Amino acid sequence: MKSVQINGVQLPAVGIGTWNIGDDPAKLNDEVNAIRAGIDRGARVIDTAEMYGNGKAERVAREAINGYQRDNLFIIDKVLPTNASAKQLEHSLDRSLDNVGTDYFDLYLLHWRGPVPLAETINEMEKMVAKGKIKSWGVSNFDVSDLQEMWSLPSGDHCVANQDLYNLDERGIEYDLLPMMADHRLPLIAYSPLAQGDTISGKLTDNQLLKELAANHQATIYQVMLAWTIRNGNVLTIPKSSSVDHAIANWEAGEIEFTNDELKILAKEFPKPSSKQPLATI
Ligand SMILES: NC(=O)c1ccc[n+]([C@@H]2O[C@H](COP(=O)([O-])OP(=O)(O)OC[C@H]3O[C@@H](n4cnc5c(N)ncnc54)[C@H](OP(=O)(O)O)[C@@H]3O)[C@@H](O)[C@H]2O)c1
Repeated sequence: MKSVQINGVQLPAVGIGTWNIGDDPAKLNDEVNAIRAGIDRGARVIDTAEMYGNGKAERVAREAINGYQRDNLFIIDKVLPTNASAKQLEHSLDRSLDNVGTDYFDLYLLHWRGPVPLAETINEMEKMVAKGKIKSWGVSNFDVSDLQEMWSLPSGDHCVANQDLYNLDERGIEYDLLPMMADHRLPLIAYSPLAQGDTISGKLTDNQLLKELAANHQATIYQVMLAWTIRNGNVLTIPKSSSVDHAIANWEAGEIEFTNDELKILAKEFPKPSSKQPLATI
């Protein structure tokens, strides 16, 4: 299993996303069981946010992690930009901690940039670290200029990760953002690594070449997509699934290794950008 280091903690590179869960009580058992299937196999990272179902996803995560050893998990939560202020951030954090049923998050992210000055958000993040409510902080949906601005601010270099959209069909960040993050040893957390079940462009699951490559690995196209996001290290990938079978498949995708030839074939079919692209977001 590939691994990635975040804030000095070595973690399996396949984690668990939680967007779009908790909305339908009839699906609760499946959602909880899928998260547990991942943890039972060895997954440690759970990614959630106050935004997801307005706390509902956090509460599903709470149920899923009940009974597991807290210090074996690495829980990521996110504050909404409008709440990332001196006045609001700690209230949001306390509510999220309460929803998830824990007294600290391993990593707390600014979900995306908003109206609050970045310096103010960083200052609050630092205060929460000092209080022990979070172990570290990071950002999400940040592009090159955002990171440069962040690094110019006091304590901006304490940021431990940037979470951005990244999948085989969305390689824009490889042009300049990923190389810059690599220079700064800032890990990427790849969100929507399965292109939301290939519902974004719809180009992946019917692709003949991907079908053949998956068959060679006795894997599914989704497993190939996931393994591709973590092929180079320094990336944590966080697929969401409400199905036990999919959750197990996602975990097992962390074992897939591509040959150089396979990576070249994939790069030809899904080229990386040759110019600056607007940051892809969902
Ligand atoms: N920071 C941000 O702004 C941001 C934005 C978006 C997402 N995120 C985070 O990233 C996580 C993942 O992204 P996402 O939820 O947008 O999409 P995703 O993980 O790319 O795709 C999820 C979809 O893929 C399906 N799926 C999962 N595993 C599968 C498998 N092995 N085979 C076939 N289908 C599979 C799921 O269906 P089933 O449930 O039926 O398996 C679901 O429909 C989120 O849950 C969230 O934690 C962060």
